[in-house]
Amino acid sequence: MSAPKVAIVIYSMYGHVAKHEILAKMHAPPKGDYPLLAPVDLVKFDAFLFGIPTRYGNFPAQWKTFWDATGGLWASGGLWGKQAGLFISTSGLGGGQESTAIAAMSTLTHHGISYVPLGYKPAFGQLSSLDEAHGGSPWGAGTLTKADGSRFPSPLELEIATIQGKTFWERVASKAA
Ligand SMILES: Cc1cc2nc3c(=O)[nH]c(=O)nc-3n(C[C@H](O)[C@H](O)[C@H](O)COP(=O)(O)O)c2cc1C
Repeated sequence: MSAPKVAIVIYSMYGHVAKHEILAKMHAPPKGDYPLLAPVDLVKFDAFLFGIPTRYGNFPAQWKTFWDATGGLWASGGLWGKQAGLFISTSGLGGGQESTAIAAMSTLTHHGISYVPLGYKPAFGQLSSLDEAHGGSPWGAGTLTKADGSRFPSPLELEIATIQGKTFWERVASKAA
């Protein structure tokens, strides 16, 4: 079987989930050069890593709007059997990285997309470290932005994200084999 196609799909307002996009009105930086993914194009991929910035412990309305445009794919089962992992940003500890991931489960489930967690095994030391404040959990990599958005992913958070990318690929590729 050929190598699976994985899309990293982000929505980012202040540039923490993507280190970009924006609305000047919301005091966010200019748009980056990321290609836009139309909901219908989700069918072109076998797996996804969704990057989500938390809003009130949940995914943003924009993420919901994206998925609300996939009714045709839902009805036809077009995304059934695909796989997805998540990575999330919040302003602070306890800000909702885990609740955002849990909220996303319903959308994945209704489409029949299998959720692939990071889990503890590949990043136990990094996830359980209390030496410094950091984002990320067994639900997926994460970053903390601070309330004013001034913080960007730390080396530890990037290490966890790298581990998630590697292990996610290994799992997706093993299913395709
Ligand atoms: C309307 C709104 C609600 C937010 N709610 C939360 C929240 O519940 N918990 C939290 O830690 N951060 C919250 N934040 C901060 C965002 O999570 C943070 O700005 C975001 O993760 C940055 O990601 P981005 O730069 O990729 O857009 C909120 C931000 C906005 C604008």
